[in-house]
Amino acid sequence: MAQLWGGRFTKETDKEVYAFNASINFDKRLIDVDIKGSIVHAKMLAKQNIISDADKDSIINGLNSILSDVKSGNILITEEYEDVHSFVEANLIERIGDAGKKLHTGRSRNDQVALDMRLYTRDTVLKTKSLLITLLSEINNVMKENIDTYMPGFTHLQKAQPVTLAHHFGAYFEMFKRDVLRLTDIYERMNYCPLGAGALAGTTYPLDREFVAENLGFLAPTANSMDSVSDRDYLIEYLSALSIIMMHLSRFCEEIIIFNSNEYRFVEIDDTFSTGSSIMPQKKNPDIAELIRGKTGRVYGALMSLLTTMKGIPLAYNKDMQEDKELSFDAFDTVNNCIHLFTGMIATIKFNKEVMEKSAMNGFTNATDAADYLVKKGMPFRDAHAVIGRLVLYCIENNKAIHELKLLELKSICDMFDMDVYDEISLETCVEKRITTGGPSRMAITNEIAKNDEFINNYSE
Ligand code: ARG
Repeated sequence: MAQLWGGRFTKETDKEVYAFNASINFDKRLIDVDIKGSIVHAKMLAKQNIISDADKDSIINGLNSILSDVKSGNILITEEYEDVHSFVEANLIERIGDAGKKLHTGRSRNDQVALDMRLYTRDTVLKTKSLLITLLSEINNVMKENIDTYMPGFTHLQKAQPVTLAHHFGAYFEMFKRDVLRLTDIYERMNYCPLGAGALAGTTYPLDREFVAENLGFLAPTANSMDSVSDRDYLIEYLSALSIIMMHLSRFCEEIIIFNSNEYRFVEIDDTFSTGSSIMPQKKNPDIAELIRGKTGRVYGALMSLLTTMKGIPLAYNKDMQEDKELSFDAFDTVNNCIHLFTGMIATIKFNKEVMEKSAMNGFTNATDAADYLVKKGMPFRDAHAVIGRLVLYCIENNKAIHELKLLELKSICDMFDMDVYDEISLETCVEKRITTGGPSRMAITNEIAKNDEFINNYSE
């Protein structure tokens, strides 16, 4: 057991207690950011004449050599150490001797871990954002190719009015676009440097916190030292954003599962993104979509877990906060992986355009437009609604779609119908007449796609 704090103890920590307390198994992934932060801290200590330049140089060389040995597998981060910070410090002292003992001057593990977690999370936010941008451009590609692909739009999972595949995908573009904006917002708010807060009350050393903040790419140092070591809001915000992303992915997956089903056959998931059954030879299952939908639960779980962990913690640092890591890391990995795999699935999926279009032709998706036709001929909408209701009933009884009825049959329900009705309730008219901003018409969607392209350009690095 290699500890940083043995001095005031007369007995060794119990082994099980040590293991319970340790975080090395999961915080070892902070090694890069831990060393990055320590290098800037050492530079600042030397600049402020708190340590010598020679000590600073040997600290920086030592830290770099630890990192490259870890990367090459020359040394392993083992359970012998309590956490990643102890691992680095113990190794540093082993390598460079007394200079290594000066690195922790004016610093506590409380502000150190606050810094590490922020640096790590900040990078991950950018990763999520760039994965979302790739997904958005894939969605926009599908939109560009399917401006004229008619399909039924649904409410209550019942056919409602005809739309296009481009319009349907455009709805998801908006969701993931808001996700990108949310991440941008979160990034800005979290981008302040907690190092220099010490254990909780700052330090008596003349630290230059502005220097550290600037050199680590932060906007500024955090404003209050007690808040600096006890704030995990940025993680909670990010986990909420990740939960919303999963909710979006999960809804999309649910639709793909339905549309991929034998009954719908609107889409066919590519073989490379499907799996088979061990017993039923005919099966090709949408497991990836189901798993993404399923993994939504663990991401929500991480958010609930951290919210609950934080709710009763008095100022400032408390060990409860170590619980911010495992589930957050799991959520980060899960969401990034899900976005990536989902993008691949969308990029390779096949759309059965004829099946979609045929489906849009029946199920009375043009009933609203038939009512609107009568309104245009002078009938009040409520009356038209009732007439078309009777017409639909007639169609159901005779197993026909509205456009399949003869003019005579139409007139038997209402004599305001004329030959021009067929044009007015065609699939194309139903879609193309919806020209208001946000609608499915070619004109509206073309505008939307251009704006999407602009958004993607603005947010791609
Ligand atoms: N492993 C700890 C954590 O993740 C590091 C900070 C320890 N600080 C302390 N006062 N025990 O929160």
